[in-house]
Amino acid sequence: KFTPRVFSGVQPSGGLTLGNYLGAVRRFVAMQDEFPETLYCMVDLHAITVWQDPAELRLRTRQLAAFYIAAGLNPEKAILFNQSAVPEHAQLAWVFNCVARIGWMNRMTQFKDKAGKNAEKASLGLYAYPSLMAADILIYHATHVPVGDDQKQHVELTRDIAAKFNHDYGVDFFPMTDPVIEGEATRVMSLRDGTKKMSKSDPSDASRINMSDDADTIAKKIRKAKTDPEPLPSELEGLKDRPEARNLVNIYAALSNRTAEDVIAEMGGKQFGEFKPLLADLAVEILSPITGEMNRLMDDVSEIDRVLGRGALRARAIAEPVLKQTYEIVGF
Ligand code: ADP
Ligand code: NA
Repeated sequence: KFTPRVFSGVQPSGGLTLGNYLGAVRRFVAMQDEFPETLYCMVDLHAITVWQDPAELRLRTRQLAAFYIAAGLNPEKAILFNQSAVPEHAQLAWVFNCVARIGWMNRMTQFKDKAGKNAEKASLGLYAYPSLMAADILIYHATHVPVGDDQKQHVELTRDIAAKFNHDYGVDFFPMTDPVIEGEATRVMSLRDGTKKMSKSDPSDASRINMSDDADTIAKKIRKAKTDPEPLPSELEGLKDRPEARNLVNIYAALSNRTAEDVIAEMGGKQFGEFKPLLADLAVEILSPITGEMNRLMDDVSEIDRVLGRGALRARAIAEPVLKQTYEIVGF
């Protein structure tokens, strides 16, 4: 009943990291050739759930678009656009706010992580974020959502909202969307602490590789990455209680399109003094051309603005009839 369609998004809220690339955007690129229709969004409505300086937000939104294109998204194929340019996202989110239950929101671990200890002071938008995310996906009847492992709970909630809507109104209108979470880098960890996710919001810049880092910075961060004194094991099993070592092996595997097992088969027995420079060279080889192309695109943003303008029109052509039908079902 539902034609295969892909939706995903990234927040234009901070510097972009290797985690965003390996966990999300690289998969976006692969899927544009595997699916008839793909939509990739700069989720600026999500970004303002925490304070954003307006000029910064505008800049970062374009930088994210430049990242998408530089990483290999083809705007002739994939639909690239800003979330706020398609008002149907927010309109459907309101309907979903009235479908989702407060108890469901209370179970979302990301809200707890992001709100921290002082949850009373968090914005209402941050709390309702998963309901807007469900609208982002379902306004396109998207069937597949490529995300990092950290977003799995939100995609499950999207299915819960779709199911309750369908049930309450006695329709089969919204699809059960599948999260697409696979590969060696569904969770890229911090370079300073193998138990924490690599994130743009980590106060330590040394904890992450930014898409804006130059070759020397990348090499230095990898050289200084926290590890243990043991060499790499000869079997994957040997990485079990070594999260930092495991993370570097996963990153190497993801960057070289291989499994962690393959990497260990080749690299087992090497000291980090030998492995880290190999990893740094590989990271620079993959990331530098993307960074270079991002910089070129940012020199004249008119090309980006044109792409996003056209993307918003294409996205609205899908979203408008879905919202109209939703309103009819609801009784508006
Ligand atoms: P962040 O999690 O840094 O705030 P977003 O929420 O905008 O960024 O995430 C954008 C996409 O990047 C999501 O699909 C998310 O799962 C993915 N992602 C972010 N950080 C990582 C990471 N460290 N490892 C794997 N994927 C990640
Ligand atoms: Na995230």
